[in-house]
Amino acid sequence: MKLGVCYYPEHWSEDLWEQDAAEMVETGIEWVRIGEFAWSRYEPNPGEYHWDWLKRSLDILGNAGLKVVLGTPTATPPKWLMDQHPEIIASDEDGQPRGFGSRRHYCFSSQIYREHCKRIVTEMAQEFGDHPAVAAWQTDNEYGCHETIISYSVAARDAFRQWCAERFNDDIQALNQAWGNVFWSMEYRSFDEIELPNLTVTEANPAHKLDFWRFSSDQVVSYNKLQTDILREHSPGRELIHNYMGNFTDFNHHDVSADLDIASWDSYPLGFLDQSNASETEKLQWMRTGHPDFAAFHHDLYRGTGNGRMWVMEQQPGPVNWAPHNPSPLNGMVRFWTWEAFAHGAEVVSYFRWRQAPFAQEQMHSALKRPDNSADIALSEATTTASEIKELATSSPTQPHKEVALVFDYESDWSLRVQPQGDNYGSLEWAMSLYGACRSCGLNIDILSPQADLDAYKVIVLANQQLESDALLTSLKHSDAQIIIGPRSFSKTQQYQIPSNLAPGVLQSLIPLKAARVESLNDAWSDTVEPNSSTVNGTLRIKKWREFIETDLKPQFTSDDGWGFLYQNNNIYYINGCMDQYSLDQLFMQLLSQNESLQLSPCPNGLRQQKLGQWQFFFNYGPEEQLLPSHRQTILGEHKLAQGQLAIVKR
Ligand code: GAL
Repeated sequence: MKLGVCYYPEHWSEDLWEQDAAEMVETGIEWVRIGEFAWSRYEPNPGEYHWDWLKRSLDILGNAGLKVVLGTPTATPPKWLMDQHPEIIASDEDGQPRGFGSRRHYCFSSQIYREHCKRIVTEMAQEFGDHPAVAAWQTDNEYGCHETIISYSVAARDAFRQWCAERFNDDIQALNQAWGNVFWSMEYRSFDEIELPNLTVTEANPAHKLDFWRFSSDQVVSYNKLQTDILREHSPGRELIHNYMGNFTDFNHHDVSADLDIASWDSYPLGFLDQSNASETEKLQWMRTGHPDFAAFHHDLYRGTGNGRMWVMEQQPGPVNWAPHNPSPLNGMVRFWTWEAFAHGAEVVSYFRWRQAPFAQEQMHSALKRPDNSADIALSEATTTASEIKELATSSPTQPHKEVALVFDYESDWSLRVQPQGDNYGSLEWAMSLYGACRSCGLNIDILSPQADLDAYKVIVLANQQLESDALLTSLKHSDAQIIIGPRSFSKTQQYQIPSNLAPGVLQSLIPLKAARVESLNDAWSDTVEPNSSTVNGTLRIKKWREFIETDLKPQFTSDDGWGFLYQNNNIYYINGCMDQYSLDQLFMQLLSQNESLQLSPCPNGLRQQKLGQWQFFFNYGPEEQLLPSHRQTILGEHKLAQGQLAIVKR
């Protein structure tokens, strides 16, 4: 458990550098990330490298005892490069080139850009690969930020044609068949005829879109690997990291992480909430704390993509600048978020940023220090956290405890987005609701891919697995965990077609039922279902999505119109509809309490828990005071938790 900070020496006079480094150390900070946007200062003119200032900065930071994460600057190609090669630029869905003057203005498919990335990363890695202060590298910055995964450029089209030829073994009829191109005479005679799925008169073929999405994700993977190969060669022994984003699924993070050592993400709980589709009531309720499950969900998701290793590379320090509204966090929240990240296995939490910039796009984004160099509130919270970590360091915990595996599939997220069949159904939102329902039972959750090893878990929940998955089917067949299958599971083949035996396809070998018809429903509509078995109770409110099931199994609930809901076959449950959060929480509490291998510990009103080694964390997001059992010995904090307070107790 270490603290870090993001720092931009190129934004400040060199006179400040020594003092900055000394103050970071005084705060208890051990890691500093620098350099990820400074290409115009590394190479102000083509081939003219200015490494002297970066060396001075690394020396100062290293001499102060700080470890550096050095960023490759490829999120911000400089003006001269864009003028030399305008074809580097990405194109939007209207086919329009995007402009210079902010960041991320490149297309992942541009071969020319890849050559320049190779060049600048190699130069940098040769120059600083063995600098004693450089302990890690960050590749690029936030792949996909500002909608930059998918590009409809000529470079992307050409690369996509090649990708398709490889995927379909040069057999264009195989592609036509997989995509169903006979429909509307969309058949191609050769891979050179393939178009990108934009600018069509009406909806493009969803199978075409899904494969374009898979291609676009693969482009990110190979682009990242191009950098990691160079860094591994010239800077051996350093950790390789990328900083992922919140609420973002546009590429397969497992595939990118396969070439990295650690997955990190950028946590802005208030910004993400304000920017989200949450209701106005929810936004107001959590506006100074963030939603109680949002940060935790991402910690667990990225810990899963990082094979157990996760950092927060950027932690919100105060008001940000980029959401529709940018409120100030409750005092204490920066410390609270930091501890919550540690509870979920973060190795480092790094604040964004050291000092607020008085210029350019992010001048309204707060930091640990204000633009006049005085301390902002977060600085003292970071100092407090650092001293708490120091005190507790002797009893350092291990990995979070394994209880629930929530299976989240990136490709299914795309397949559900290419043809949603209901505009209010969000795969990520639904996954977060399921996560919230498990978490309200006080359980630890790992968010894993369908390929993951699910052996150690007591509960497996399929969050969004629309696409059939052989690997997952095999794991489920061999598991004696409680298995909860969500709606729409296995309802499409990998090629985006309806399975020959209808949904849930091959899962019918685990639970004998068929979704004969589905309906998506306006948000204003809802229906209630009542229990008709003794193992369940209470009324549930169904919303957004219903599936009409044909089966000999008896439904556990029924609605007024005779619709049956929730089916069980031994340890397998099938949920054939969506619910509001309250109902989902109630249902999970009932289902999981039937599982004798679990010990539930219900979380009322914004209280959240996490078990890590011998520690049990309690976080109070809610406005009401929470009392922890007085016989439990606290290691940090009090038994009485006001909003924004946390405690660690011994398990
Ligand atoms: C992140 C980004 C940072 C900074 C920050 C502001 O998305 O990586 O460079 O822009 O947001 O909150």
